[in-house]
Amino acid sequence: MKAIEIRNKYLKFFENHGHKVIPSAPVIPENDPSVLFTTAGMQPLVPYLLGEKHPSGTRLTDYQKCVRTNDIDEVGDNRHLTYFEMLGNWSLGDYFKDESIAMSYEFLTKELGIPNEKLSVTCFAGDEDCTRDTVAFEAWKRAGIPEERIYFFGKDDNWWIAGEEGPCGPDTEMFYDTGKEKCSPECNPSCGCGKYVEIWNNVFMEFYKDKNGYSKLKQQNVDTGLGLERMVMLLQGKETPFEIELFAPVMEKLVDLQKEDLIQSRRIVAEHLRSSMMIINDGGRPSNVDRGYILRRLLRRMTRHLNKLGIDLTVLPEIIDTSIDALKELYPELDNNREEIKAVIIAEKDKFIKTLQNGEREFEKVANRTKNAGNKVIDTNAVFNLYETYGFPPEMTEELAKEQGLQVDMSDYQKLFAEHQEKSRMGSDQKFKGGLASTGEMETKYHTATHLLNAALKVVLGEHVHQKGSNITAERMRFDFSHGAKMTDEEKQKTEDLVNEYISKNIPVERMEMKKEEALALGAEAMFLDKYGDIVTVYKIGDFSIELCGGPHVGSTGELGHFKIKKEEASSAGVRRIKAILD
Ligand code: ALA
Repeated sequence: MKAIEIRNKYLKFFENHGHKVIPSAPVIPENDPSVLFTTAGMQPLVPYLLGEKHPSGTRLTDYQKCVRTNDIDEVGDNRHLTYFEMLGNWSLGDYFKDESIAMSYEFLTKELGIPNEKLSVTCFAGDEDCTRDTVAFEAWKRAGIPEERIYFFGKDDNWWIAGEEGPCGPDTEMFYDTGKEKCSPECNPSCGCGKYVEIWNNVFMEFYKDKNGYSKLKQQNVDTGLGLERMVMLLQGKETPFEIELFAPVMEKLVDLQKEDLIQSRRIVAEHLRSSMMIINDGGRPSNVDRGYILRRLLRRMTRHLNKLGIDLTVLPEIIDTSIDALKELYPELDNNREEIKAVIIAEKDKFIKTLQNGEREFEKVANRTKNAGNKVIDTNAVFNLYETYGFPPEMTEELAKEQGLQVDMSDYQKLFAEHQEKSRMGSDQKFKGGLASTGEMETKYHTATHLLNAALKVVLGEHVHQKGSNITAERMRFDFSHGAKMTDEEKQKTEDLVNEYISKNIPVERMEMKKEEALALGAEAMFLDKYGDIVTVYKIGDFSIELCGGPHVGSTGELGHFKIKKEEASSAGVRRIKAILD
């Protein structure tokens, strides 16, 4: 089944079940400067989820154009997309769990023809904020899903909210079993190994979360989201979305044009081109701030990978045409705005080429400085600066360096880059929260615990451990770090014990200001290197933790209570994730 057929079936199905089809909102939210892009179908519907009357009634359905750019630098693997289409249906205080689940089951099995055995589902396990979802459980059983394929998980898996504040609730998620081997006897839908692929999420939105906690909304809503590209991929038996008809023609075109055979680069070009076109079509233009900057990054990354493929940039218009032709059935607006879209992309490409030329001039200066100082290896900060300020790719710096008998320490660069990436990720998370983020007492404790965990992991696993991300709520912390293997039970225990040992010693958390170089010389972990000026804030805990950080932190570690690791799992290639609590 093609994407257009699945979309049409979906809208028709819900229309037949009393829903009004509403148009997709633009990927650039109207009248909402607090978010960069539309990231979910519910986003334009927030006022109605909160109780305002929608002119089209209480049952709605649509396809929504969505952009999620938190993972830009991961695109190129086999699943991440920065643009995707979300099919959704909503009950605004109309039907609730039973009818929602019955409709989803009917759509998946009857309309899409997915066999019952291929489906597993998850429900909310219950906690102090909301009871266990036995209603959803019973509804799935009635639909025909056997108990052994109905799983219960906590808030991390089965609770949905956009950002930190807003309408939210427990959800039930549907998973497609790809038929791959289980990665372990415990393998289940919450495991990231790829056996189970999430296909649909029904959120039972009856709560509102703000900094004081959860309260009940005026009405019980349902908000669902089904990722179109992923569904097309599964139903077509493909391994990646890049093989479906929306991408395949561009991928093939790139194969025809390329001089180097690099599949990752082809995916990045095809993906970023589509995303950029959707953003441009809805009025986005490249710039140095916010949305414009994301668009610029997408286009520059695309251009850089065209370069890597050895593709002559004068053929870019042909590549754009191929992509628009593959997408125009779904988005006729791309066809209508073809020339304008092309003009924006090509102008940005030309600007980037200029940038590269300026970068080359700057490179010459850096190279001369390096040689004059009698060094062979170019200072990594200079490599990074070339990329940040001049948009000059490190691979190019490395290539030019080689020609002059110089070197670039790419692994050092990668480290610096990862830190920067985390910073921009946190930046857009912040944007998503719209500045409403609060740092309460528990969040502050978790923040300090993050530093202790980072330090403990270095002791237990080794110095290669660096923070790759973190996410803190009042209930728990999540911490991503570089490490290649699953942690053993013993390693987890040791880490937990070490953190608790640091806590029980009740060590003061010292806040200091110093020169950035000084902090780095002291071996400070530096997540946000380029965010600060020359003088940085450093938090030091005894002699085992020192990190550049804006805080806030507790006064001394004794305030944290007892630290407990709840889960350790893969996050992405070479990155592990720990979920932990303080109790
Ligand atoms: N809003 C829900 C999601 O994005 C359906 O998963």
